[in-house]
Amino acid sequence: MVVPAKDASGAPGAGAELPSAATLHRAVQVLLAGGLVAFPTETVYGLGADADQVGAVAAIFRAKGRPPAHPLILHVAQAAAVASWTSAVPEPARVLMERFWPGPLTLILPRSARAGDVVTGGQDTVGLRCPAHPWAQALLRAFGAARADPTVALAAPSANRYGRISPTSAAHVRADLGQKPDGRLDLILDGGACTLGIESTIVDFATGVARVLRPGSIRLEQIRLALGAQVLSASDAEPAPRTSGRVRGHYAPGKPLELVEPGALAARIGELGADKAGVLAPSDTQLGVRPSALALRLTAAADAPAYARELYEYLHQLDESTAQILLVATPPHGSEWEAIHDRLGRAAAGSAGPIIDAD
Ligand code: TXA
Ligand code: MG
Repeated sequence: MVVPAKDASGAPGAGAELPSAATLHRAVQVLLAGGLVAFPTETVYGLGADADQVGAVAAIFRAKGRPPAHPLILHVAQAAAVASWTSAVPEPARVLMERFWPGPLTLILPRSARAGDVVTGGQDTVGLRCPAHPWAQALLRAFGAARADPTVALAAPSANRYGRISPTSAAHVRADLGQKPDGRLDLILDGGACTLGIESTIVDFATGVARVLRPGSIRLEQIRLALGAQVLSASDAEPAPRTSGRVRGHYAPGKPLELVEPGALAARIGELGADKAGVLAPSDTQLGVRPSALALRLTAAADAPAYARELYEYLHQLDESTAQILLVATPPHGSEWEAIHDRLGRAAAGSAGPIIDAD
């Protein structure tokens, strides 16, 4: 698959430099025509379409194989655009925007008429995020300039098929969704590997009290500190069935994945047979066998930000290996690791059988 986007140095995926003017122009033309553009954000790659075009947003659901009732996040270039997509912005939401935007934070707010049913899944709220990644910012601004409207938005879920592992590189998007004519997307922008690697923290303001619906790299205590007020955690929250990131069985590799305490890994490998096991564990973990005897041995990063950045790459590699069972050493505990535990728990739940209900 040829991905035409190259950065200024000519090497695809070389990092955070801005996309070339030609690349941006092409991406904007695709968006104006109602097409689908995969683009990098600091969290994961997004699968974007013009949020004002019902047909373009509907194409996202078809490309992902995602059920239509699952709402999409709208990406905007700046906080000033939020007024156009919402009917009210509570003061605490404003505080979080000022503190954390642009960045990995999505706010759920009462929607305006402009945020249509195809985006919101028919709910009376809309998810909004202002991404920090220079390519995402450049794309949003160029698209706003072409539409002569700085409040434009790109509706964008993660650029993976429904229920599959989230993409943190253009290669992941190419392998999972692909570019036309062989694949499903009109254009895949390659801005290198995502720097944070885990989807945004979602904070819901629909009920008056702020609730974290999905943990991310902005932690609950940072939100509490910024608001100086009570914030409910994901586990305190009422079940939110249409927040598909909360569906168990999300972010799942195709093979069974087990979370195993580091001290129990050697025994589990012994039971299964080393050649059947793909293992992700810290470097000093006792495995009872030589690493080369395993189907794949990946070394887990010791600190939470590095682990988060690599998490989906680890899962992609394990999934593509010859391993029949994926064994992941339970990571350390503590608030820095909460989002990682959340995603690994869902991956373990989702990999146990056929994927029934995951976005
Ligand atoms: O970091 C991210 O948030 C990435 C990048 C591309 O921005 N996007 C992402 O999108 O993770 P997606 O669609 O894979 O996950 C968005 C989550 C879904 O679980 C969706 O159900 C939830 O946000 N969501 C969106 N709008 C919502 C709403 N109005 N109410 C409740 N949940 C909502
Ligand atoms: Mg997703």
